[in-house]
Amino acid sequence: MKKTKKRGIEVLVFAKEKEVAEEVAGLITKEIRKKSGLRLGLATGKTMIPVYRELVKLYKKKKVNFSKVKIFSLDEYVGTNKMRNYLEKNFFSKVNVSRSNINLLDGKARNLNLECKRYEKDIGRLDLQILGIGRNGHIGFNEPGSGFRSNTRKIKLERATLKDKGKFPEFALTIGIGTILRANKILLVGFGKSKSETISSALDKMSKKIPASALQRRKNVLFVLDKQAGKNLK
Ligand code: F6R
Repeated sequence: MKKTKKRGIEVLVFAKEKEVAEEVAGLITKEIRKKSGLRLGLATGKTMIPVYRELVKLYKKKKVNFSKVKIFSLDEYVGTNKMRNYLEKNFFSKVNVSRSNINLLDGKARNLNLECKRYEKDIGRLDLQILGIGRNGHIGFNEPGSGFRSNTRKIKLERATLKDKGKFPEFALTIGIGTILRANKILLVGFGKSKSETISSALDKMSKKIPASALQRRKNVLFVLDKQAGKNLK
């Protein structure tokens, strides 16, 4: 494992994807052990699949107890509950997260503005936010151009994002960059060659063109990458 620091952000680079997933699952577990009622912000997407797999393994070995953890998540496609279903399938159904502690965005809410306001208020300040990163640098669904103080809102997804995600609605609800930056700790996970350029840009000049570069504003941000994703970092 290689450890570096760029623009105030700590970066760990592991040889293999599995090692990244184990490290991230281990770090989440450590935070839950320190605070059983941890306010945890989850991400979805391909990147997170091996992380949930490792978390489930740790749960089965009785190394972690999710019963008091308060669960939030980054985003949801408008008109759907796709993210909820993903989390249900890959995580909630396999561990002891308490139903009453799950608080997600409702993409099917009748009044989306009110839903965003509700969520912004409910989320408050997270203890730990987990993030993936889009090829265009988005975090959550904060596409390029998003304000660094933005809150939970409806957003139109870029063509590049829609291409990466497959057949999904064009609009999504996402917590804001401002919402993310309020978290006490932020952990970004990245795999693969296709993310390497974006990740090095995120660790270069801060710019609205690369939403993840906003993370440089905060202390307590950690990037955990595989060798491919970290290959452009010197
Ligand atoms: C997911 C999310 C997105 C993804 C990003 C990467 O909740 O908010 O920011 O983390 O699009 O997606 P994958 O991991 O599928 O490459």
